Amino acid sequence: MEADKEKTRYFLTMPFPSLSRLHESISTPALLIDAARMDKNLRGMQAAADARHVALRPHIKTHKAPVLARRQRELGARGLTVAKLSEAELFAGEGFDDIFMANQLTQKAKAPMLNKVRQRARLILGIDHPRQVTLLEEMLSSPGPPLEVRIEIDSGFHRCGIEPESDLLVDVARLIRQSPALTLEGVFTHAGQAYGARSPREIKDIAAREAASVTAAAARLKKIGIEIATISVGSTPTAKEVIRHKGVTEVRPGNYIFYDRIQHALGSCRAEQLALYVLATVIAQPGPAQIVCDAGSKALNTETGAHGMHLVKGYGQPMNVKGTLTRLSEEHGIIGLERPEEIAIGSPLLIAPNHACVVANLYDFYHLADGESVQIVPISARGKSR
Ligand SMILES: Cc1ncc(COP(=O)(O)O)c(C=O)c1O
Repeated sequence: MEADKEKTRYFLTMPFPSLSRLHESISTPALLIDAARMDKNLRGMQAAADARHVALRPHIKTHKAPVLARRQRELGARGLTVAKLSEAELFAGEGFDDIFMANQLTQKAKAPMLNKVRQRARLILGIDHPRQVTLLEEMLSSPGPPLEVRIEIDSGFHRCGIEPESDLLVDVARLIRQSPALTLEGVFTHAGQAYGARSPREIKDIAAREAASVTAAAARLKKIGIEIATISVGSTPTAKEVIRHKGVTEVRPGNYIFYDRIQHALGSCRAEQLALYVLATVIAQPGPAQIVCDAGSKALNTETGAHGMHLVKGYGQPMNVKGTLTRLSEEHGIIGLERPEEIAIGSPLLIAPNHACVVANLYDFYHLADGESVQIVPISARGKSR
């Protein structure tokens, strides 16, 4: 019953009125962006952050495209967030001069890239252990200005980060203060557990804990004379909620540019906000209630939830036929139709992906569609996993 309602909602919000025309000229599988929806998503998050006087530093892990990061900057984003040094290198090379890598850097083989990026851009790194201080000191070429770092706080996701009440927080902060190579600029957290939330109430509670953990950490450090400039939080499910809390100065959502089925299931967005789609082609109809398309796991990924969690049924939502993407092999997507129906072989199939970030990593470029006009946007940081 619930699933039926969900399908109806998706059909009511069908993007790309000229789908057949787009399909005549775009070789599939391909990634389509609805430009108007994307722009609305960007403006919506920017307005929410502005209204709370919180800086928006979008995570580029979702779109991986300098063209789209420029749009975020035009609308008011202050700096950007990356997860990997190779992403920082690419965006620094594209002229982005304020980059926070919300992650730890511990491999000495990365020292040349680290020093190169720092010559081009302001780079801030994450830290949550004394050993990382030593490793960074060894990696940084001297002389140079101290490297800005932020201490990662665990706000309940239990991935990386220090508990705000742990002694380790003070130890690491003092060690950074003593280091001539580093300077402590902020604290940050990511409440990834929000992707397992079962209700909007739970998301609110997670956002409250997210904010409380970093503000408590900053307050503890202040008590021992260490002032923190930036208190940074953020995930797409919690973003609009967590910025309501006092003390937060920066928010780092990434997925909000497109949203996706997982965000929709979590209640982060409405169906008409979904801006990213996989365009596929029907290649076969082996039976009356089954069609096969040319988008398999290499075009859709197999995630049914973020961070390894399970949230939605099927491997994407077909938008223009009533059915479920029940099975994927690498180059084939198998759709079970709701009821027997003849579907023209060779016709377009539009699919709302489950998790936009991982799907974007599978393509070289987007087709940014604004009515009839289509712009090719390179996904330049695709595959930048080092
Ligand atoms: C450290 C960090 N910050 C921000 C984000 C962005 O969150 P979201 O993907 O929910 O937009 C992520 C996503 O994984 C993250 O790991």
